[in-house]
Amino acid sequence: MVEVMSRLNGDQLSCWERDGFLVVEDAFSAAACETLRARALDLVDAFDPTDDVSVFDTNDQSHAQDDYFLGSGDQIRFFLEEGVTDGSGRLTTAKSEAVNKIGHAMHDLDDVFDGFSRDQTVESIASDIGFIDPLLLQSMYIFKSPRVGGEVTWHTDHTFLWTEPQSVVGFWVAIDDATVENGCMWAVPGGHTGLPRRRFRRDGSGGTTMDVFNPDPWNIDSAVPIEARQGTLVLLHGSLPHGSGPNTSDKSRHAYTVHVIEGQSVYPADNWLQRAESIPFRGFQPRS
Ligand code: FE2
Repeated sequence: MVEVMSRLNGDQLSCWERDGFLVVEDAFSAAACETLRARALDLVDAFDPTDDVSVFDTNDQSHAQDDYFLGSGDQIRFFLEEGVTDGSGRLTTAKSEAVNKIGHAMHDLDDVFDGFSRDQTVESIASDIGFIDPLLLQSMYIFKSPRVGGEVTWHTDHTFLWTEPQSVVGFWVAIDDATVENGCMWAVPGGHTGLPRRRFRRDGSGGTTMDVFNPDPWNIDSAVPIEARQGTLVLLHGSLPHGSGPNTSDKSRHAYTVHVIEGQSVYPADNWLQRAESIPFRGFQPRS
């Protein structure tokens, strides 16, 4: 195995272990962020929501939406904000503002996203925090557009990207400056040490369900905003409660996130995100 250069110092690793998140400034250049933004906007340009009218119309679409979401683990798909289409799937707002996010396999299907996701910095940090056989599980380009971008309610990523034992870590990158004003993330420092409270999974009959082990709401009294300038990388432990408010400002808040899991953990067959055999999860090594 090739030796990977270290990127985090001892203080940073201590913060990571104590807080369950870590802010790494200047992990990506402005140019790299702008290249990723341009590619995401190109993908949105090429997306025609009327092609997916059964998914995006407003009548009885929950089954089609389930299929569209559950089939996105090895695809590049587009997820819209609430209430931005009419009954025939036509957008009622500009397409670039109507898209909530793109997911979930750009890092394996698109060269620009592949290169960004497998940047040396990400690989080094994954090694620094203890991954032995890191696998890039999913990617999301999040738009959180001005005045339209919705809130993300409090959750942990382990709930949705379950492994045994827990291993998922989010590598979140600010493509725009993220501030309290435009809906930055919030997290509870140290909240990653609690037991799992929920697990979202396939229900075996084409839908999904949420197992609830502990119905208590998160105690978010000690939550802190994670403001981040463009190019900042925020590491998020899979058991850390986090969320973000809506973007009520006039400022864009694009972000990109890749979730990494440990290849030596068990990845359950009833996790919502599954891959076709022809496109297995891949680590940081180049495509063969
Ligand atoms: Fe999350």
